[in-house]
Amino acid sequence: MSNNLLKNKNGIIFGALDENSIAWKTAEKIMSQGGKFVLTNAPVALRMGKLNELAEKTNSPVIPADATNKEDLENLIEKSIEHFNGKIDFVLHSIGMSVNVRKGKVYTDLNHDWLTKGWDVSAVSFHKLLQVLYNKDAMNKWGSIVALSYVAAQRVFPNYNDMADNKAYLESVARSFGYFFGKEKKVRVNTISQSPTPTTAGKGVKGFDGFITYAEKMSPLGNANADECADYTVTLFSDLTKKVTLQNLYHDGGFSNVGVSQEIVDIVSKNN
Ligand SMILES: NC(=O)c1ccc[n+]([C@@H]2O[C@H](COP(=O)([O-])OP(=O)(O)OC[C@H]3O[C@@H](n4cnc5c(N)ncnc54)[C@H](O)[C@@H]3O)[C@@H](O)[C@H]2O)c1
Repeated sequence: MSNNLLKNKNGIIFGALDENSIAWKTAEKIMSQGGKFVLTNAPVALRMGKLNELAEKTNSPVIPADATNKEDLENLIEKSIEHFNGKIDFVLHSIGMSVNVRKGKVYTDLNHDWLTKGWDVSAVSFHKLLQVLYNKDAMNKWGSIVALSYVAAQRVFPNYNDMADNKAYLESVARSFGYFFGKEKKVRVNTISQSPTPTTAGKGVKGFDGFITYAEKMSPLGNANADECADYTVTLFSDLTKKVTLQNLYHDGGFSNVGVSQEIVDIVSKNN
């Protein structure tokens, strides 16, 4: 169902790799709500993923950008403004990668070069993006910027590894930069802390199947899926949430506030 919540709004979507990606679902939902967008991803993801398929389906241009590269980001923002013939209303940062997770290094034995790379891609890229948008005065007043996070920023999930630290940093950047964006430009900056979701990035975490089942049993509303995350993001890009900023917003079926659920107690009791 469309309420045209994003009619006349133009944005940029980072991170759609394939049809499972949260960014892919978000692009589809934004289109159904009347929004227009430029799609972007790292050049290597353009070769390996299916972004061109999404671009065709949504009639959107693709402008490659490695989110860790300021020149790429500057080019992306300039070309997007040219394409829309005007400033930007919304931006989705849906990017995450840890070399340590990929290579199975445990937290106590992290490779710090890999840590730095993953931190740059998953967290510092958000600061770089915000800085380019800010310095170029690229956002329309009452625009909205969202990045995706995970509750491992606050609670311990041993296998989430250095991504937990990256997410903590990401959420802090949203608050710190969001202050200046709010004050100077009337633009809001938030993170959404999403349930575990079966995507390429999600499934890369060791023990993901157990992880997602556990979260499902802990959450009173069950896990939030990628489509539901996309719906929530649409609300944050719409004019219905104009005064929501500097927040880390849990979109997790209630998981983050539950100590233990009866289902988990029953399973543990049976096993004892
Ligand atoms: N899947 C989950 O369980 C889950 C839960 C909470 C939050 N998140 C977050 O959601 C976001 C999207 O991930 P997803 O689950 O849709 O997985 P995904 O693998 O589909 O998306 C990750 C994207 O990051 C992109 N990326 C990696 N390096 C990049 C770079 N240098 N420049 C630009 N883009 C780059 C990849 O190409 C890919 O498109 C991530 O921030 C992730 O941490 C995921």
